[in-house]
Amino acid sequence: MDNLRVSRRGFLRVAGAVASALPFLRGEQPASAATAKAIGLASTHPVGKTKLYTSVSPSLFVTRTGTNTWVAFDNICTHAGAQLVLQGKQAFCRAHGATFNPATGKPTNNVARTALRSYPVSIRKGKIFVTV
Ligand code: FES
Repeated sequence: MDNLRVSRRGFLRVAGAVASALPFLRGEQPASAATAKAIGLASTHPVGKTKLYTSVSPSLFVTRTGTNTWVAFDNICTHAGAQLVLQGKQAFCRAHGATFNPATGKPTNNVARTALRSYPVSIRKGKIFVTV
């Protein structure tokens, strides 16, 4: 029975390791990896609309593609890194004329060949969160 004795320090070390692994074992991201930032209210963003949110870095094009579906892409041109602006229903680069679909991130002319970087979007308690 003496072999089953565990020191207080050993017990705490194992308990700490188990506690830190629980989120991973439940399929959750560790708390330190969470970088979701609230950028606005879902109620002020209509379905089908793209808005440029500048409260995060990089600024993001966020499109509400359906009642509960959202996408986000940064506004950095993949041609040479200039900032994009929203012009009508497309993202436009004033530097050399690249255009992108802000709801898919894909280039829509032949200036840029690479899609915009995407970011996960979630809605919690009526707020739009983007993980950047
Ligand atoms: S940097 Fe955007 S088109 Fe060249």
